[in-house]
Amino acid sequence: MKIIAANWKMNNSFDECDAWLDGFFSGYTKNIDKLKDVEMILCPPHILLDYIDSELMEDSMKHLDSLMTQQNKSIEDFSEEELNEIVLGSRPIRIGGQDCHSGESGSYTGSVSADMLSKVGCEYVILGHSDRRDGCFENSDVVAKKISAALAKKLTPIICVGESKAVREKKEHLAFIEKQIEETLANNSGFESLVIAYEPIWAIGTGLVPTIEEIQEVANLVKKLFETKYANIANKHYLLYGGSVKESNAKSILDINGVDGLLVGGASLNVDEFLNICQN
Ligand code: PGA
Repeated sequence: MKIIAANWKMNNSFDECDAWLDGFFSGYTKNIDKLKDVEMILCPPHILLDYIDSELMEDSMKHLDSLMTQQNKSIEDFSEEELNEIVLGSRPIRIGGQDCHSGESGSYTGSVSADMLSKVGCEYVILGHSDRRDGCFENSDVVAKKISAALAKKLTPIICVGESKAVREKKEHLAFIEKQIEETLANNSGFESLVIAYEPIWAIGTGLVPTIEEIQEVANLVKKLFETKYANIANKHYLLYGGSVKESNAKSILDINGVDGLLVGGASLNVDEFLNICQN
């Protein structure tokens, strides 16, 4: 399975979100054969999550209605578990937060908790993005605590790691990435899926993309870590690549051995481009 996550960052108004969803539902219906096996994840600004969740719920209810008609059943014929499975399982796209706080509740002005995300239908949360590591001074210790909070609420964290240009120029990127992974995973276990996103900082939003060989080198490192150090802490392991992914380069990146998906920023704002990336 490939995972393609859209990170809208601080973009898209309510109206733009609505237009994106309309485009998504119609594009998905037309290309369902190519898209049904891709785990697509939408990470919008937090303020849009509840609305998107209710739109997805409405779509799933149509699916449930047609299932009941086909099988000549009424809602009482399904257990709560079955209903949950049908309603959540039929979502064409999952939703996730772009960050969460490590605390459960309290005096954390401007933050949202993992529980709040989970209550508006999130199944994922991006943690440790360089926008937050650099812009909000979050070190790996903070990210590790956020991962624990997410796991406690059954959210799958998408854990971002990646080096700066200076670190790469010194050829210290592999040791840097390994240390970031080690520190953020410290004391964390019990992952259903362990999802790491390799996002070199110098490639984010710049149009610069590492060569296939450079991504392959990191994919080899992460694969080795998954197999040796982290084989026991998760049932499934995925490595995503992020940084200036576009329709034109998505396929060659996805073809790299050990790359299981993409984290797409700018290009995900255009729903057609996002769907074309997913069809790759
Ligand atoms: P970009 O962003 O695709 O716009 O480079 C990726 C990210 O920051 O997740």
